[in-house]
Amino acid sequence: MQRIIAPSVLSADFGHLERDIRMLNDSRAEWIHIDVMDGVFVPNISFGFPVMKPIRQASPKFMDVHLMIIDPEKYVERFVEAGSDLVTFHLEATKDPRKCIDLIRKAGAKVGISIKPATPIEDLKEWLSDIDLVLVMSVEPGFGGQSFMPHSIEKVAGIRKMAETLNPNLMIEVDGGISSKNARLLFDAGAEALVAGSAVFKAEDPKQEIINMLNA
Ligand code: DX5
Ligand code: ZN
Repeated sequence: MQRIIAPSVLSADFGHLERDIRMLNDSRAEWIHIDVMDGVFVPNISFGFPVMKPIRQASPKFMDVHLMIIDPEKYVERFVEAGSDLVTFHLEATKDPRKCIDLIRKAGAKVGISIKPATPIEDLKEWLSDIDLVLVMSVEPGFGGQSFMPHSIEKVAGIRKMAETLNPNLMIEVDGGISSKNARLLFDAGAEALVAGSAVFKAEDPKQEIINMLNA
């Protein structure tokens, strides 16, 4: 299975955003993870379309957009227009996952569904065959820099098992508290993409930390 690192821009220096994106362009990170928060679904507000635009202009990398917003169906098409390659919405944030999936797909991006730490993996079952990726939250969504919740490893293994019959091509991504210390456990459990905010941007040598995670 492939290994992908998706640095989260939430931990970048917004006063020098272009510099930080160029650093990622020059790194082994294949994806750039964009955390969009609305202050309702999560107790924090991050950024939206106006900030995504310069990131898209500064980088040719795969743009992995994680929506932590209520009723995502209202906005998913605009996120695809803004340059998302993958749009991931939260299962807990919508009454109509089917609509979200169809709108994202029709607009031309890959589709992801994310679940919070307390949401059982069984809730994903009916959607697994219709999506490209599951994003397992290994912290409560809302903030960078929190501690990794170890039970996420079993969730990854469980989803990988469910996907064997329902969608063998399903990708699993994990987000929250990830560094070169726990990356290997997650890759071994069946994750292919790992998000890392503080581990990358607070590292003395971010590009080396990305390599360390890939080689974990
Ligand atoms: C949290 C976000 C994460 C966050 C990860 O709600 O979804 O993507 O930026 O940050 P770290 O890697 O610092 O836990
Ligand atoms: Zn995220």
